[in-house]
Amino acid sequence: MREEKNILVLGASGTMGQRIVKLLANELPHARLIAASRNKNKAGDIEFRRLELSDPGTFTAALRNIDVLIHAAGPYDHDPTELVSACLSHGVYYIDLAEDLTFISRVTEAANNQVEPRAGAITGCSTVPGLVSVLSQRFDKLETLSAVRVYLNLGSRNAVSPGLFYSLLRPIGRRLNHVICFRHLVQRIHQDGKRRRYGPYPAPFLDGVQIKNKYFPVTFHVGFDRHYLTLGLKLASFLIPKLSNSALKRLCRYVLPLANALRLLGTREGHLVVEAIDSDATVIDYLEIVAKDEGLDIPAAQAVWATKALLDQEKKTKTAPGPINLNELVTMEDALEWITRHGYAVYKRL
Ligand SMILES: NC(=O)c1ccc[n+]([C@@H]2O[C@H](COP(=O)([O-])OP(=O)(O)OC[C@H]3O[C@@H](n4cnc5c(N)ncnc54)[C@H](OP(=O)(O)O)[C@@H]3O)[C@@H](O)[C@H]2O)c1
Repeated sequence: MREEKNILVLGASGTMGQRIVKLLANELPHARLIAASRNKNKAGDIEFRRLELSDPGTFTAALRNIDVLIHAAGPYDHDPTELVSACLSHGVYYIDLAEDLTFISRVTEAANNQVEPRAGAITGCSTVPGLVSVLSQRFDKLETLSAVRVYLNLGSRNAVSPGLFYSLLRPIGRRLNHVICFRHLVQRIHQDGKRRRYGPYPAPFLDGVQIKNKYFPVTFHVGFDRHYLTLGLKLASFLIPKLSNSALKRLCRYVLPLANALRLLGTREGHLVVEAIDSDATVIDYLEIVAKDEGLDIPAAQAVWATKALLDQEKKTKTAPGPINLNELVTMEDALEWITRHGYAVYKRL
């Protein structure tokens, strides 16, 4: 029986992967961290294993003696079935940071269909849906709760990779239930008195957010610290649906230098608001998290919390193999304690 725990970070050289490695080194100093991706030369000084997502032949060797795999190699536009299956059949816990509903449902399906799984899969382990699901547990005593509304405001000075840029743009202009993604903007006044603009965005929840034993619908809005970027996405909502995924990927590569230049005009300030609304759409409770700096540690943290909980023998034995919700591993109180301890401000309705 191995004493040392091995964590494989797929995409460790990426923007999110690097943050995850840094947080893991702080939170789990005794674990062995191993980087995986296509190119060894990007891995820095941690041990490297080659894993190419499009080549399942590379999976078994990369997963040898691994306890937890964190898949941070976005964009999440590939089929994860074989990777999830390889993990669960080898007894490796699988975690990803996906925000794409198709990807999330494929991971869930693969974990459900795995014959005799020896481990579990936690998908969407990032801000949305992961952190939102955990924070929504605050609303468990609201008898008139009818839905959950989420606003995410991104600081445009934060680092942006081609993958992150493409993942953000891909849904723009697509039809959501009754609206088109980013076509009509809405405004929200925040606790600092400032009005911020948002565009509707797909909410990556399979059946809504689970609070106790009930599921509640979620609506999601995204905006930026600079209004011109939010307005730019509204304009882009006319063009992007006309592009194939590969054309959009190419466009992102061309436009990225401009996005990087605009970063100089932006801030690192980020806001996440999770609101409880009743059947009249009146806000009955809310919680807001404000990041003045290092906002990108927030989406990276959930994968680290999940890893920590899975390596904790007591919690691990309580989770059955197959799909696992982040809620089963992390409480709202523990999440808020981590968030405030790391310098983020938390505002709640009194
Ligand atoms: N749900 C949320 O709230 C949320 C929030 C933030 C980010 N995200 C997600 O996080 C994702 C990661 O973004 P990022 O900015 O970190 O991306 P990035 O900087 O482009 O990094 C991508 C990483 O994946 C590796 N990679 C790419 N293609 C691969 C392949 N075919 N096989 C194996 N490894 C591969 C790359 O290394 P090599 O080139 O060496 O292979 C690199 O290490 C985004 O796409 C986004 O979807 C989600």
